[in-house]
Amino acid sequence: MILVTGGAGFIGSNFVLDWLAAEGSPVVNLDKLTYAGNLRNLESIEGDTRHVFVRGDIGDGDLVGRLLKEHRPRAIVHFAAESHVDRSIHGPAEFIDTNVVGTLGLLEAVRAHWSGLPSAERAALRFLHVSTDEVYGSLGATDPAFSETTPYAPNSPYAASKAASDHLVRAYHHTYGLPTVTTNCSNNYGPFQFPEKLIPLMIVNALARKPLPIYGDGRNVRDWLYVGDHCDAIRVALARGRPGETYNIGGSAERANVDIVSSICTILDELHPRGAPHSELITYVTDRPGHDRRYAIDAAKIGRDLGWAPRERLETGLRTTVAWYLGHMDWVRSVTSGEYRKWVDTNYGSRSVA
Ligand code: NAD
Ligand code: TYD
Repeated sequence: MILVTGGAGFIGSNFVLDWLAAEGSPVVNLDKLTYAGNLRNLESIEGDTRHVFVRGDIGDGDLVGRLLKEHRPRAIVHFAAESHVDRSIHGPAEFIDTNVVGTLGLLEAVRAHWSGLPSAERAALRFLHVSTDEVYGSLGATDPAFSETTPYAPNSPYAASKAASDHLVRAYHHTYGLPTVTTNCSNNYGPFQFPEKLIPLMIVNALARKPLPIYGDGRNVRDWLYVGDHCDAIRVALARGRPGETYNIGGSAERANVDIVSSICTILDELHPRGAPHSELITYVTDRPGHDRRYAIDAAKIGRDLGWAPRERLETGLRTTVAWYLGHMDWVRSVTSGEYRKWVDTNYGSRSVA
Protein backbone atom coordinates (compact mmCIF):
# COMPACT_ATOMS: atom_id res chain seq x y z
CA MET A 1 0.00 0.00 0.00
CA ILE A 2 1.22 3.51 -0.82
CA LEU A 3 -0.41 6.88 -0.16
CA VAL A 4 -0.36 9.26 -3.12
CA THR A 5 -1.35 12.92 -2.76
CA GLY A 6 -2.61 14.83 -5.80
CA GLY A 7 -3.28 11.59 -7.69
CA ALA A 8 -6.15 13.11 -9.68
CA GLY A 9 -3.90 15.76 -11.25
CA PHE A 10 -1.79 15.47 -14.38
CA ILE A 11 1.35 13.69 -13.16
CA GLY A 12 -0.30 12.09 -10.13
CA SER A 13 -2.98 10.35 -12.20
CA ASN A 14 -0.41 9.12 -14.73
CA PHE A 15 1.59 7.83 -11.76
CA VAL A 16 -1.37 5.99 -10.21
CA LEU A 17 -2.20 4.31 -13.54
CA ASP A 18 1.45 3.37 -14.15
CA TRP A 19 1.91 2.17 -10.58
CA LEU A 20 -1.07 -0.19 -10.70
CA ALA A 21 0.13 -1.54 -14.05
CA ALA A 22 3.80 -1.88 -13.07
CA GLU A 23 3.80 -2.62 -9.31
CA GLY A 24 0.28 -3.65 -8.58
CA SER A 25 0.23 -2.85 -4.86
CA PRO A 26 -2.77 -0.80 -3.66
CA VAL A 27 -2.89 3.00 -3.70
CA VAL A 28 -4.76 5.38 -1.42
CA ASN A 29 -5.20 8.56 -3.44
CA LEU A 30 -5.77 11.74 -1.43
CA ASP A 31 -6.78 14.69 -3.60
CA LYS A 32 -8.76 17.85 -2.94
CA LEU A 33 -10.12 17.95 -6.51
CA THR A 34 -9.25 21.56 -7.24
CA TYR A 35 -9.81 22.77 -10.81
CA ALA A 36 -6.68 20.74 -11.72
CA GLY A 37 -7.81 17.43 -10.23
CA ASN A 38 -10.02 15.26 -12.37
CA LEU A 39 -11.42 11.82 -11.59
CA ARG A 40 -11.99 11.21 -15.29
CA ASN A 41 -8.22 10.72 -15.50
CA LEU A 42 -8.76 7.56 -13.43
CA GLU A 43 -11.80 6.21 -15.30
CA SER A 44 -9.84 3.23 -16.63
CA ILE A 45 -9.36 1.92 -13.06
CA GLU A 46 -12.93 2.51 -11.91
CA GLY A 47 -13.99 -0.48 -9.82
CA ASP A 48 -10.39 -1.59 -9.27
CA THR A 49 -10.27 -2.36 -5.54
CA ARG A 50 -6.54 -1.60 -5.44
CA HIS A 51 -7.37 2.11 -5.82
CA VAL A 52 -9.01 3.93 -2.90
CA PHE A 53 -9.89 7.53 -3.67
CA VAL A 54 -10.33 10.01 -0.83
CA ARG A 55 -11.31 13.60 -1.42
CA GLY A 56 -9.51 15.77 1.08
CA ASP A 57 -6.81 18.32 1.84
CA ILE A 58 -3.18 17.43 2.55
CA GLY A 59 -3.29 20.07 5.29
CA ASP A 60 -6.05 18.22 7.17
CA GLY A 61 -3.90 16.53 9.79
CA ASP A 62 -6.76 14.53 11.33
CA LEU A 63 -7.75 13.08 7.98
CA VAL A 64 -4.16 12.25 6.96
CA GLY A 65 -3.51 10.75 10.41
CA ARG A 66 -6.57 8.52 10.07
CA LEU A 67 -5.57 7.38 6.57
CA LEU A 68 -2.05 6.55 7.75
CA LYS A 69 -3.34 4.61 10.73
CA GLU A 70 -5.93 2.70 8.72
CA HIS A 71 -3.81 1.82 5.66
CA ARG A 72 -0.23 1.82 7.07
CA PRO A 73 1.32 2.76 3.71
CA ARG A 74 4.97 1.93 3.17
CA ALA A 75 5.42 5.18 1.27
CA ILE A 76 3.87 8.60 0.78
CA VAL A 77 4.33 10.04 -2.71
CA HIS A 78 3.54 13.75 -2.53
CA PHE A 79 2.37 15.34 -5.80
CA ALA A 80 -0.42 17.61 -4.49
CA ALA A 81 0.30 21.24 -5.23
CA GLU A 82 -0.81 24.36 -6.98
CA SER A 83 1.33 24.03 -10.08
CA HIS A 84 0.77 26.81 -12.61
CA VAL A 85 3.23 29.74 -12.67
CA ASP A 86 0.76 32.17 -14.31
CA ARG A 87 -1.83 31.52 -11.60
CA SER A 88 0.83 32.08 -8.93
CA ILE A 89 1.56 35.50 -10.41
CA HIS A 90 -2.13 36.49 -10.19
CA GLY A 91 -2.74 34.94 -6.75
CA PRO A 92 0.26 33.70 -4.75
CA ALA A 93 -1.62 33.06 -1.48
CA GLU A 94 -3.12 29.73 -2.52
CA PHE A 95 0.37 28.54 -3.50
CA ILE A 96 1.65 29.26 0.00
CA ASP A 97 -1.43 27.63 1.57
CA THR A 98 -1.13 24.36 -0.33
CA ASN A 99 2.52 24.04 -1.30
CA VAL A 100 4.05 25.32 1.94
CA VAL A 101 1.47 25.14 4.75
CA GLY A 102 -0.19 22.05 3.24
CA THR A 103 3.14 20.26 2.88
CA LEU A 104 4.00 21.19 6.48
CA GLY A 105 0.70 19.70 7.68
CA LEU A 106 1.32 16.54 5.69
CA LEU A 107 4.87 16.23 7.07
CA GLU A 108 3.61 16.70 10.62
CA ALA A 109 0.95 14.00 10.22
CA VAL A 110 3.48 11.62 8.65
CA ARG A 111 6.05 12.33 11.37
CA ALA A 112 3.52 11.67 14.14
CA HIS A 113 2.53 8.37 12.54
CA TRP A 114 6.09 7.35 11.69
CA SER A 115 7.38 8.05 15.23
CA GLY A 116 5.00 5.43 16.62
CA LEU A 117 5.87 2.65 14.17
CA PRO A 118 7.92 -0.43 15.09
CA SER A 119 11.57 0.08 14.11
CA ALA A 120 11.57 -2.07 10.94
CA GLU A 121 8.56 -0.16 9.55
CA ARG A 122 10.10 3.15 10.60
CA ALA A 123 13.25 2.37 8.66
CA ALA A 124 11.37 1.17 5.59
CA LEU A 125 8.92 4.08 5.27
CA ARG A 126 9.63 6.66 2.54
CA PHE A 127 8.29 10.17 2.05
CA LEU A 128 8.89 11.01 -1.60
CA HIS A 129 8.48 14.72 -2.34
CA VAL A 130 7.87 15.59 -5.98
CA SER A 131 9.38 18.95 -6.85
CA THR A 132 10.50 21.02 -9.78
CA ASP A 133 13.64 22.37 -11.47
CA GLU A 134 12.13 25.86 -11.17
CA VAL A 135 13.52 26.13 -7.61
CA TYR A 136 16.98 26.69 -9.14
CA GLY A 137 15.98 29.88 -10.97
CA SER A 138 16.98 30.84 -14.49
CA LEU A 139 20.01 29.91 -16.62
CA GLY A 140 21.87 31.93 -19.24
CA ALA A 141 22.29 30.42 -22.71
CA THR A 142 25.70 28.86 -21.97
CA ASP A 143 25.39 28.11 -18.24
CA PRO A 144 25.80 24.48 -17.15
CA ALA A 145 22.54 22.62 -16.42
CA PHE A 146 21.07 22.52 -12.89
CA SER A 147 22.62 19.85 -10.67
CA GLU A 148 21.55 18.81 -7.17
CA THR A 149 24.11 21.24 -5.73
CA THR A 150 22.96 24.30 -7.69
CA PRO A 151 21.92 26.97 -5.15
CA TYR A 152 18.19 27.62 -4.89
CA ALA A 153 17.08 30.90 -6.53
CA PRO A 154 13.32 30.66 -7.14
CA ASN A 155 11.88 33.53 -9.18
CA SER A 156 8.08 33.04 -9.35
CA PRO A 157 5.72 32.69 -6.40
CA TYR A 158 5.15 29.09 -7.58
CA ALA A 159 8.88 28.34 -7.58
CA ALA A 160 9.32 30.06 -4.19
CA SER A 161 6.52 27.96 -2.68
CA LYS A 162 8.03 24.73 -4.03
CA ALA A 163 11.49 25.78 -2.79
CA ALA A 164 10.03 26.36 0.69
CA SER A 165 8.42 22.91 0.63
CA ASP A 166 11.72 21.33 -0.45
CA HIS A 167 13.44 23.02 2.49
CA LEU A 168 10.82 21.73 4.91
CA VAL A 169 11.26 18.18 3.60
CA ARG A 170 15.02 18.53 3.95
CA ALA A 171 14.61 19.82 7.51
CA TYR A 172 12.31 16.92 8.48
CA HIS A 173 15.02 14.51 7.41
CA HIS A 174 17.85 16.43 9.05
CA THR A 175 16.05 17.23 12.31
CA TYR A 176 13.76 14.25 12.88
CA GLY A 177 15.34 11.59 10.68
CA LEU A 178 12.20 11.17 8.55
CA PRO A 179 13.28 9.02 5.57
CA THR A 180 12.59 11.54 2.78
CA VAL A 181 13.63 11.55 -0.87
CA THR A 182 13.12 14.66 -3.04
CA THR A 183 12.99 14.72 -6.83
CA ASN A 184 13.33 17.91 -8.90
CA CYS A 185 11.98 17.43 -12.39
CA SER A 186 11.86 19.48 -15.57
CA ASN A 187 8.70 20.37 -17.57
CA ASN A 188 6.41 17.38 -18.17
CA TYR A 189 4.04 16.79 -21.04
CA GLY A 190 1.67 13.98 -22.02
CA PRO A 191 -1.94 12.80 -21.54
CA PHE A 192 -4.25 14.40 -18.94
CA GLN A 193 -2.38 17.71 -18.66
CA PHE A 194 -4.79 20.54 -17.93
CA PRO A 195 -4.99 22.84 -20.96
CA GLU A 196 -3.47 25.86 -19.23
CA LYS A 197 0.14 24.67 -19.59
CA LEU A 198 2.02 25.38 -22.82
CA ILE A 199 1.71 22.13 -24.75
CA PRO A 200 -1.96 21.20 -24.14
CA LEU A 201 -3.02 24.85 -24.41
CA MET A 202 -1.46 25.12 -27.86
CA ILE A 203 -3.04 21.85 -29.03
CA VAL A 204 -6.49 22.79 -27.75
CA ASN A 205 -6.33 26.36 -29.09
CA ALA A 206 -5.10 25.19 -32.48
CA LEU A 207 -8.00 22.74 -32.73
CA ALA A 208 -10.42 25.55 -31.88
CA ARG A 209 -8.61 27.82 -34.38
CA LYS A 210 -7.81 30.26 -31.64
CA PRO A 211 -4.53 32.24 -31.42
CA LEU A 212 -1.48 30.41 -30.04
CA PRO A 213 -0.12 32.94 -27.50
CA ILE A 214 3.67 32.88 -27.22
CA TYR A 215 5.11 34.99 -24.42
CA GLY A 216 7.85 37.51 -25.27
CA ASP A 217 10.19 36.51 -28.07
CA GLY A 218 9.41 32.79 -27.74
CA ARG A 219 13.09 31.97 -27.18
CA ASN A 220 12.69 30.89 -23.53
CA VAL A 221 14.00 27.37 -23.20
CA ARG A 222 12.55 24.47 -21.21
CA ASP A 223 13.76 20.87 -20.86
CA TRP A 224 10.82 18.58 -21.71
CA LEU A 225 10.18 15.15 -20.22
CA TYR A 226 7.42 12.73 -21.18
CA VAL A 227 5.23 12.14 -18.13
CA GLY A 228 5.63 8.33 -18.31
CA ASP A 229 9.40 8.75 -17.95
CA HIS A 230 8.84 10.94 -14.88
CA CYS A 231 6.61 8.25 -13.36
CA ASP A 232 9.35 5.66 -13.97
CA ALA A 233 11.92 7.90 -12.31
CA ILE A 234 9.73 8.35 -9.24
CA ARG A 235 9.24 4.58 -8.94
CA VAL A 236 13.01 4.12 -9.15
CA ALA A 237 13.68 6.89 -6.61
CA LEU A 238 11.15 5.29 -4.27
CA ALA A 239 12.67 1.83 -4.60
CA ARG A 240 16.35 2.74 -4.51
CA GLY A 241 16.75 6.43 -3.58
CA ARG A 242 18.75 7.08 -0.43
CA PRO A 243 16.93 8.84 2.42
CA GLY A 244 17.94 12.48 2.68
CA GLU A 245 19.03 12.65 -0.97
CA THR A 246 17.63 14.71 -3.81
CA TYR A 247 17.60 13.60 -7.45
CA ASN A 248 17.23 15.78 -10.54
CA ILE A 249 15.09 14.33 -13.33
CA GLY A 250 15.12 15.66 -16.89
CA GLY A 251 14.58 14.72 -20.49
CA SER A 252 17.80 16.09 -22.05
CA ALA A 253 15.44 17.76 -24.50
CA GLU A 254 15.93 21.52 -24.35
CA ARG A 255 13.78 23.46 -26.79
CA ALA A 256 12.77 27.09 -27.28
CA ASN A 257 9.01 27.61 -26.81
CA VAL A 258 8.51 28.73 -30.38
CA ASP A 259 10.13 25.52 -31.63
CA ILE A 260 7.81 23.40 -29.46
CA VAL A 261 4.76 25.28 -30.74
CA SER A 262 5.97 24.98 -34.36
CA SER A 263 6.43 21.21 -33.91
CA ILE A 264 2.89 20.90 -32.53
CA CYS A 265 1.59 22.84 -35.56
CA THR A 266 3.45 20.55 -37.98
CA ILE A 267 2.07 17.42 -36.27
CA LEU A 268 -1.45 18.87 -36.37
CA ASP A 269 -1.07 19.78 -40.06
CA GLU A 270 -0.46 16.09 -40.65
CA LEU A 271 -2.91 14.47 -38.20
CA HIS A 272 -5.68 17.06 -38.43
CA PRO A 273 -5.30 19.18 -41.61
CA ARG A 274 -7.32 22.39 -41.63
CA GLY A 275 -6.50 23.74 -45.09
CA ALA A 276 -4.04 26.35 -43.85
CA PRO A 277 -0.94 25.71 -41.72
CA HIS A 278 -1.71 25.81 -37.98
CA SER A 279 1.43 27.95 -37.50
CA GLU A 280 -0.57 30.88 -38.93
CA LEU A 281 -2.27 30.99 -35.52
CA ILE A 282 0.98 31.78 -33.66
CA THR A 283 0.66 35.17 -31.92
CA TYR A 284 3.35 36.87 -29.87
CA VAL A 285 1.93 38.38 -26.68
CA THR A 286 3.26 40.42 -23.74
CA ASP A 287 5.84 38.47 -21.77
CA ARG A 288 5.10 36.79 -18.42
CA PRO A 289 6.49 38.99 -15.57
CA GLY A 290 9.77 37.58 -14.25
CA HIS A 291 9.78 34.94 -17.01
CA ASP A 292 12.74 32.55 -16.46
CA ARG A 293 14.86 32.38 -19.60
CA ARG A 294 16.18 28.85 -19.54
CA TYR A 295 15.89 25.63 -17.54
CA ALA A 296 18.15 22.63 -18.12
CA ILE A 297 18.64 19.55 -15.96
CA ASP A 298 21.78 17.57 -15.35
CA ALA A 299 20.28 14.13 -14.60
CA ALA A 300 23.65 12.36 -14.20
CA LYS A 301 23.11 11.49 -10.52
CA ILE A 302 19.88 9.54 -10.95
CA GLY A 303 21.43 7.82 -13.98
CA ARG A 304 24.62 6.89 -12.14
CA ASP A 305 23.19 6.01 -8.71
CA LEU A 306 19.77 4.58 -9.60
CA GLY A 307 20.14 3.54 -13.25
CA TRP A 308 17.31 5.73 -14.61
CA ALA A 309 17.28 7.37 -18.05
CA PRO A 310 14.40 8.76 -20.10
CA ARG A 311 13.09 6.44 -22.82
CA GLU A 312 10.76 8.62 -24.86
CA ARG A 313 12.19 11.02 -27.46
CA LEU A 314 10.58 14.46 -27.59
CA GLU A 315 9.51 14.09 -31.22
CA THR A 316 7.65 10.82 -30.66
CA GLY A 317 6.34 11.88 -27.25
CA LEU A 318 4.88 15.08 -28.73
CA ARG A 319 3.20 13.13 -31.52
CA THR A 320 1.69 10.68 -29.00
CA THR A 321 0.48 13.61 -26.92
CA VAL A 322 -1.12 15.46 -29.84
CA ALA A 323 -2.80 12.21 -30.93
CA TRP A 324 -4.06 11.67 -27.34
CA TYR A 325 -5.71 15.11 -27.24
CA LEU A 326 -7.23 14.56 -30.69
CA GLY A 327 -8.77 11.36 -29.39
CA HIS A 328 -9.94 12.88 -26.07
CA MET A 329 -11.67 16.12 -26.96
CA ASP A 330 -14.58 15.07 -24.75
CA TRP A 331 -12.15 15.09 -21.81
CA VAL A 332 -10.95 18.56 -22.81
CA ARG A 333 -14.52 19.82 -23.08
CA SER A 334 -15.51 18.41 -19.73
CA VAL A 335 -12.49 19.79 -17.83
CA THR A 336 -12.81 23.24 -19.40
CA SER A 337 -16.59 23.65 -19.58
CA GLY A 338 -17.52 23.63 -15.90
CA GLU A 339 -19.52 20.41 -16.43
CA TYR A 340 -16.97 18.49 -14.39
CA ARG A 341 -16.96 21.07 -11.57
CA LYS A 342 -20.71 20.65 -11.34
CA TRP A 343 -20.26 16.88 -11.12
CA VAL A 344 -17.72 17.28 -8.28
CA ASP A 345 -20.05 19.63 -6.38
CA THR A 346 -22.99 17.25 -6.80
CA ASN A 347 -21.03 14.19 -5.76
CA TYR A 348 -18.79 15.59 -3.08
CA GLY A 349 -20.19 19.01 -2.12
CA SER A 350 -17.51 20.92 -0.27
CA ARG A 351 -16.90 18.15 2.28
CA SER A 352 -14.11 15.62 2.33
CA VAL A 353 -15.29 12.04 2.12
CA ALA A 354 -12.97 9.96 4.22
P1 NAD B 1 -1.64 19.48 -11.30
O1 NAD B 1 -1.93 20.91 -11.01
O2 NAD B 1 -2.08 18.89 -12.59
O3 NAD B 1 -2.28 18.55 -10.13
C1 NAD B 1 -2.21 18.89 -8.78
C2 NAD B 1 -3.18 17.97 -8.03
O4 NAD B 1 -3.09 18.30 -6.63
C3 NAD B 1 -4.65 18.16 -8.43
O5 NAD B 1 -5.27 16.91 -8.59
C4 NAD B 1 -5.26 18.92 -7.26
O6 NAD B 1 -6.64 18.65 -7.07
C5 NAD B 1 -4.41 18.40 -6.11
N1 NAD B 1 -4.37 19.32 -4.97
C6 NAD B 1 -4.13 20.67 -5.00
N2 NAD B 1 -4.18 21.16 -3.76
C7 NAD B 1 -4.42 20.12 -2.92
C8 NAD B 1 -4.55 19.99 -1.51
N3 NAD B 1 -4.44 21.07 -0.69
N4 NAD B 1 -4.78 18.77 -0.98
C9 NAD B 1 -4.91 17.68 -1.78
N5 NAD B 1 -4.80 17.75 -3.12
C10 NAD B 1 -4.55 18.95 -3.68
O7 NAD B 1 -0.07 19.32 -11.08
P2 NAD B 1 0.98 18.39 -11.85
O8 NAD B 1 1.44 19.09 -13.07
O9 NAD B 1 0.43 17.04 -11.92
O10 NAD B 1 2.19 18.43 -10.81
C11 NAD B 1 2.27 17.48 -9.74
C12 NAD B 1 3.49 17.79 -8.91
O11 NAD B 1 4.65 17.71 -9.73
C13 NAD B 1 3.48 19.18 -8.29
O12 NAD B 1 4.01 19.09 -6.99
C14 NAD B 1 4.41 19.99 -9.18
O13 NAD B 1 5.03 21.02 -8.48
C15 NAD B 1 5.40 18.92 -9.62
N6 NAD B 1 6.04 19.13 -10.94
C16 NAD B 1 5.27 19.38 -12.04
C17 NAD B 1 5.89 19.53 -13.29
C18 NAD B 1 5.09 19.77 -14.55
O14 NAD B 1 5.68 20.00 -15.60
N7 NAD B 1 3.77 19.69 -14.52
C19 NAD B 1 7.28 19.43 -13.38
C20 NAD B 1 8.02 19.17 -12.22
C21 NAD B 1 7.39 19.01 -11.01
P1 TYD C 1 4.26 26.45 -18.65
O1 TYD C 1 3.65 25.30 -19.36
O2 TYD C 1 3.36 27.41 -17.94
O3 TYD C 1 5.37 25.85 -17.67
P2 TYD C 1 6.52 26.63 -16.79
O4 TYD C 1 6.23 28.07 -16.76
O5 TYD C 1 6.29 25.99 -15.48
O6 TYD C 1 7.82 26.30 -17.45
O7 TYD C 1 5.10 27.28 -19.70
C1 TYD C 1 6.16 26.70 -20.44
C2 TYD C 1 6.83 27.80 -21.22
O8 TYD C 1 5.89 28.29 -22.20
C3 TYD C 1 7.20 29.01 -20.38
O9 TYD C 1 8.42 29.54 -20.89
C4 TYD C 1 6.07 30.00 -20.60
C5 TYD C 1 5.65 29.68 -22.03
N1 TYD C 1 4.22 29.91 -22.33
C6 TYD C 1 3.85 30.67 -23.46
O10 TYD C 1 4.70 31.20 -24.19
N2 TYD C 1 2.52 30.83 -23.72
C7 TYD C 1 1.55 30.30 -22.92
O11 TYD C 1 0.34 30.51 -23.19
C8 TYD C 1 1.94 29.50 -21.78
C9 TYD C 1 0.90 28.87 -20.88
C10 TYD C 1 3.30 29.33 -21.54
